[in-house]
Amino acid sequence: MEDLSPRPGDLDAIETASRDEIAALQLDRMKWSLSHAYENSPFYRARFDEAGVHPSDLKSLADLAKFPFTTKKDLRDTYPFGMFAVPREKLTRIHGSSGTTGKPTVVGYTQKDIDIWADVVARSIRAAGGRRGDMVHVAYGYGLFTGGLGAHYGAERLGCTVVPMSGGMTERQVTLMQDFKPRIIMVTPSYMLSILDEFRRQGIDPRESSLAVGIFGAEPWTNAMRQEIEQSFDMHAVDIYGLSEVMGPGVASECVETKDGLHIWEDHFYPEIVDPATGNVLPDGEMGELVFTTLTKEGLPIIRYRTRDLTRLLPGTARSMRRIEKITGRSDDMMILRGVNVFPTQIEEQILKCQGLAPHFQIELSRTGRMDEMTVHVECTPEAADEIARASSAKSLAHYIKSVVGVTTKIEIRDPGGVARSEGKAKRVVDNRPKE
Ligand code: DLL
Repeated sequence: MEDLSPRPGDLDAIETASRDEIAALQLDRMKWSLSHAYENSPFYRARFDEAGVHPSDLKSLADLAKFPFTTKKDLRDTYPFGMFAVPREKLTRIHGSSGTTGKPTVVGYTQKDIDIWADVVARSIRAAGGRRGDMVHVAYGYGLFTGGLGAHYGAERLGCTVVPMSGGMTERQVTLMQDFKPRIIMVTPSYMLSILDEFRRQGIDPRESSLAVGIFGAEPWTNAMRQEIEQSFDMHAVDIYGLSEVMGPGVASECVETKDGLHIWEDHFYPEIVDPATGNVLPDGEMGELVFTTLTKEGLPIIRYRTRDLTRLLPGTARSMRRIEKITGRSDDMMILRGVNVFPTQIEEQILKCQGLAPHFQIELSRTGRMDEMTVHVECTPEAADEIARASSAKSLAHYIKSVVGVTTKIEIRDPGGVARSEGKAKRVVDNRPKE
């Protein structure tokens, strides 16, 4: 694979600034953000007053811990525009969650917010090895979801040629990639696997495709999956993270030269890691829940937003800004089986160790009597589809899950194509336990 390290002069000055410079900028911007929220959003004013804090109480970055958290419930309770800090007419764009798990949440951006968002996504694409003039195939969904339009504006900002494919119509995705020859693809990792299948179905060697870099995010994925995708396509696979409440894609991104976790664009988003149970701030390096405060956002400033994503903060490497380790999972996706915490990413890692299994899987939770049970539905590869090979794959997988993750699971080996394909975010867990 090509060496895609940045050339001198490619980066924004802040990407290589000293920690002191970054912290000074953050403190200035945090003061602004807290005052902006307090002065212009009745929601935040009430919240701060209730907690007995005022923006002027922030003298150092650590003082942020005095301020109350914001949660998804706050966005739901103030649906649609109750948390905004500018009049509705000042908003250039609205995005939102689909609301499949409850009432939808709505977020909004001023023109300046959209500009900053494009800048951080452009920075993310550059960190992944993208350059002005590249063709970028965007297969994240377009619409209220922030993936498609977020990637789109960032790629344009970097000076790329954008192909706004959105998700779905997989056969056509492959045809257009063969015809247009994009260098970069931006898509969820699970949908990239569906695209991989389609390449093979059409008899095209994916390693011969024009793709040199994939920028994958919107759902958890493992380093084992990175290897699988990199080898299958002979391309670089890097991680991009974000969430609509904070901005969308481009809150943090991996650098292609190190692939060692995602640098948070700390000039716009201030991270903390807190203990999910107590809410206490944890020191860098400790695993906990990621919390974000926006430093420059006008439309919907977010103060100490509880993401529910679990990770650790690590020092900068390829850039001065701190990194998050690849996300283990969301606290909502954590399954507890006989006292052991299990994340879908841990199952993914074990599946990718097993010869004879394809990386398509779904986890089913059920209950017999008082016991919760987990069944992993996973596909065999076409080469390992006979009875003997299936039995041996199932045995290896059950063994890895038991010895590495620590739980006993049932394994159901499905035919190739037998697990539902993703066109966006994969649904990894199906919970069939009776509702209490
Ligand atoms: O998924 C924004 C996005 C689009 C990010 C495209 C990257 C690429 P939401 O739909 O609001 O926004 O979902 C946000 O998705 O809290 C995480 O749980 C999960 N997530 C996003 N990126 C990653 C990632 C977009 N790289 C939620 N690794 C977040 C793991 C991720 N989980």
